[in-house]
Amino acid sequence: MSCLLVLCSSLLVIAAASDSKLPSSPPPPPPLPVLPIPSSKQLHWQRRERSIFFHFGMNTFTDSETGTGLEDPRLFFPTHLNARQWVSVAKDAGFTLVVLVAKHHDGFCLWPSKYTNHSVASSFWKSGKGDVVRELTDAVAEAGIDLGLYLSPWDRHEPSYGNTLDYNKHYLAQMRELLTNYGNISEVWLDGAKGNISMEYKFDEWFETIHQLQPGALIFSDAGPDTRWVGDEQGRAGATCWSMVRRSSIQIGNSGPILQYLNQGDEHGSDWVPPECDVSIRTGWFWHRSERPKDLWSLLDIYYTSVGRNCVLLLNVPPNSSGLISDEDSKTLRALSTAITTIFSVNLAASPLSVTASSAYSTEHGPHQVLTPDISSFWSPREGEAAGWLMLDLGKPTLFNLVKIQEAIAWGQRVRYHRVDVLSVTRGWTTVAQGTTIGYKRLHRLKLIVKAQLVKLVILDSRAAPPLVASFGLYLDPYPHVGNDTSVIS
Ligand SMILES: *[C@@H]1O[C@H](CO)[C@@H](O)[C@H](O)[C@H]1NC(C)=O
Ligand SMILES: *[C@@H]1O[C@H](CO)[C@@H](O)[C@H](O)[C@H]1NC(C)=O
Ligand SMILES: *[C@@H]1O[C@H](CO)[C@@H](O)[C@H](O)[C@H]1NC(C)=O
Ligand SMILES: *[C@@H]1O[C@H](CO)[C@@H](O)[C@H](O)[C@H]1NC(C)=O
Ligand SMILES: *[C@@H]1O[C@H](CO)[C@@H](O)[C@H](O)[C@H]1NC(C)=O
Repeated sequence: MSCLLVLCSSLLVIAAASDSKLPSSPPPPPPLPVLPIPSSKQLHWQRRERSIFFHFGMNTFTDSETGTGLEDPRLFFPTHLNARQWVSVAKDAGFTLVVLVAKHHDGFCLWPSKYTNHSVASSFWKSGKGDVVRELTDAVAEAGIDLGLYLSPWDRHEPSYGNTLDYNKHYLAQMRELLTNYGNISEVWLDGAKGNISMEYKFDEWFETIHQLQPGALIFSDAGPDTRWVGDEQGRAGATCWSMVRRSSIQIGNSGPILQYLNQGDEHGSDWVPPECDVSIRTGWFWHRSERPKDLWSLLDIYYTSVGRNCVLLLNVPPNSSGLISDEDSKTLRALSTAITTIFSVNLAASPLSVTASSAYSTEHGPHQVLTPDISSFWSPREGEAAGWLMLDLGKPTLFNLVKIQEAIAWGQRVRYHRVDVLSVTRGWTTVAQGTTIGYKRLHRLKLIVKAQLVKLVILDSRAAPPLVASFGLYLDPYPHVGNDTSVIS
């Protein structure tokens, strides 16, 4: 009996499968990408959404933010250093990439570089036999997460600093040590700081070498090549934020005059260099006894103005002078992670009664594609149309105060203007959110809780037709901001 059932149902499946293939008119091919587009490692990096920075070094022991390079290496003495604790704090909070400051401006190296004695090798920590980079490398490998390294070009200790040829060789020699002895490195972080000393950094030679030694690594600097500085250290991207810039118009280390350019990107930029928001959980980058972590509300604001504006958040959590992440920082990080999980736990738009659109590119790229979390499937209006709308009937009046929109950025970032409308019983069609760019992810926190059944995403204009919308979500964020106003418009 059961055999028969199995037989019957498999026959049915075969019948259904061949039936659906019968009409067999091939689907139209997907739209052409609009350049520039992200590389596969940039896409992978963007999907992480957030990563952790560890500022730890001589400054941790001298209560300083920028050391002079004259510090006695014996001041570096973490009594309980445990990189596994750093990694478990990061991993438990949902992070998959941590970036360590291997050398800051003071020149003190957290690994025993053979090109200087200003390093852990000259400290009493582990009798000069310790290696923080190694301990962190082992810890991330055990935990199955990824590692990035910051190697400061500015070095206030190194005697050759100021001599362009000698110091460039020195810097690249240290970079080679880091990129050949510690396994896979996923991101290399550097900037153009140089105090007021006149010297030239050979960025092209550095970048080519880094990519040669670690093909999987992204390079961060003001101007990329792979990810760019967002132009501030507050975690605030522009409300308009393009992943593109023109790399040739950015001078690394001289971004003062173009902070806004970095913050907003460039609709006409020829290079895909998505922004990264580095910001500290505390006031300073290094741990100071007198400072405390920011509160959850400030961190959520940062989350919304970074991840919610097409950026990756790089949140600094500095280990203390014992060599451990302080309890108050671990707690705050866990609270942030719990909040983010809670906010996005229920997508109220996941299974609407219906979803319709102004037009569709093809059956394969119909409006239902925005309901899947997969950002490589998308809804798109007809070829040649730079505008269009998508409407969801939620089936019943629904409360929400947060809208999530994602573009299929693998095909290029396109949307220039968009808005979200709801059908209000008292006011008719009402705009509850509007904005310019979308990019990988755009989050709109609404000022009030909205109660609506019909919700419309309107794409008003795109830099190239057609726009591709990968995902649309509605949420009820229980951590509201703006004065915690919980009144409802319906
Ligand atoms: C480091 O080397 C310099 C000379 O290159 C020397 O003057 C200094 O004493 C050394 N410091 C340590 C801590 O060994
Ligand atoms: C350069 O910086 C040093 C230390 O920061 C300072 O003492 C010196 O006055 C500066 N020189 C100039 C020319 O600004
Ligand atoms: C290191 O990265 C390469 C590709 O860049 C990959 O093939 C290899 O499996 C990675 N090794 C480890 C240990 O993850
Ligand atoms: C560093 O953090 C640990 C908790 O992980 C704590 O036990 C220790 O006292 C802290 N050290 C300092 C100097 O605050
Ligand atoms: C919102 O409510 C939380 C928790 O009650 C409170 O800590 C926070 O200060 C409030 N924010 C504003 C802007 O009133």
